[in-house]
Amino acid sequence: MHLQASILWKGLFSIGALSLILVGLPSSAEDAGTLYNTTYDVLQGERYFERQCSRCHGFDAKGNDETGAPDLTGRLSRANNPVGIFNIVRNGVPNTAMLPVDADLPDAQVWQVVSYIESLRYDPASVELDGNPDAGLALFLNNGDCASCHMVNGQGGRLGPDLSRVGESTRPEDLMTAITNPHEDVAPRWWTLEITGPDGVTRSGFRMGEDSFSVRIMDNDSNLWSYQKNNIDSIERIERSTMPSYDGAMSESELDDLVAYLFSLRREGN
Ligand code: HEC
Ligand code: HEC
Repeated sequence: MHLQASILWKGLFSIGALSLILVGLPSSAEDAGTLYNTTYDVLQGERYFERQCSRCHGFDAKGNDETGAPDLTGRLSRANNPVGIFNIVRNGVPNTAMLPVDADLPDAQVWQVVSYIESLRYDPASVELDGNPDAGLALFLNNGDCASCHMVNGQGGRLGPDLSRVGESTRPEDLMTAITNPHEDVAPRWWTLEITGPDGVTRSGFRMGEDSFSVRIMDNDSNLWSYQKNNIDSIERIERSTMPSYDGAMSESELDDLVAYLFSLRREGN
């Protein structure tokens, strides 16, 4: 019975592994958790969970008495932080049905699953914030000028990520960091590249795509420019955010209002 379960388990993994996307490897276990907790990562983790974990833990991760797999949405008995969860998923729980994931599975993907589990354990309804979301919305549209760069539900600019569901995957303290210290953790999509092309003209824009031979940028007027790398005079990468820091530019209570507004942005009914 145990043996059968383990064969099925291995089989499922080899199917799942083919369709997974590889992400860069983390430099250390401690750092890695925070590298793989974007909305995208949580979603990838959820997909993986549905394929590989749900048959024991349930599609809603609320556990299953028959398989003995515990509820993962509340407090866990064997782990109290992301690194602990990572270790359980990586190594399994000896002498139980909870087997380790395939040894070939990159750490990055294990972190994505960890981020998904973390997102479940987090009940937004239980979070109490100081700020006022309505005041935050007014700041977002007016004084803060956030909407000139950010889209929410189809309204706003394209010079920053769409924030329509940012509250689902981002904790209030991380939202605060994003506003007060935007340079901390800038995804490559939002780097600025300054490229001088064969015509001698220098253009700068967001890094929309890049491979060994070519690179594409989008300038502030939403024009796309495509370059062959062997034709470029020079290329400079600016890994800082183009978003200004609002630390000091706004009062503490205004920042709280913005965070309350952003945290309220989630799928209808969530
Ligand atoms: C074959 C059934 C089975 C599958 C598949 C399975 N688990 Fe488990 N899992 C268990 C059981 C049983 C336990 C309880 C082990 C124990 O502590 O006795 C457990 C425990 C855990 C725990 C610790 C819970 C706690 O309260 O500390 C985590 C986290 C976990 N599983 C995550 C996962 C993830 C992620 C996957 C998919 C990659 C997965 N499991 C796949 C059966 C399974
Ligand atoms: C000049 C354009 C610009 C303005 C103005 C701007 N942002 Fe941003 N914002 C960005 C860019 C680009 C990023 C992505 C790079 C980064 O992480 O900083 C970003 C990232 C963010 C993130 C993180 C999103 C995520 O998915 O992790 C949040 C939250 C955010 N901005 C909120 C705000 C708020 C609130 C305001 C107004 C007070 C604001 N932004 C004003 C351009 C802007």
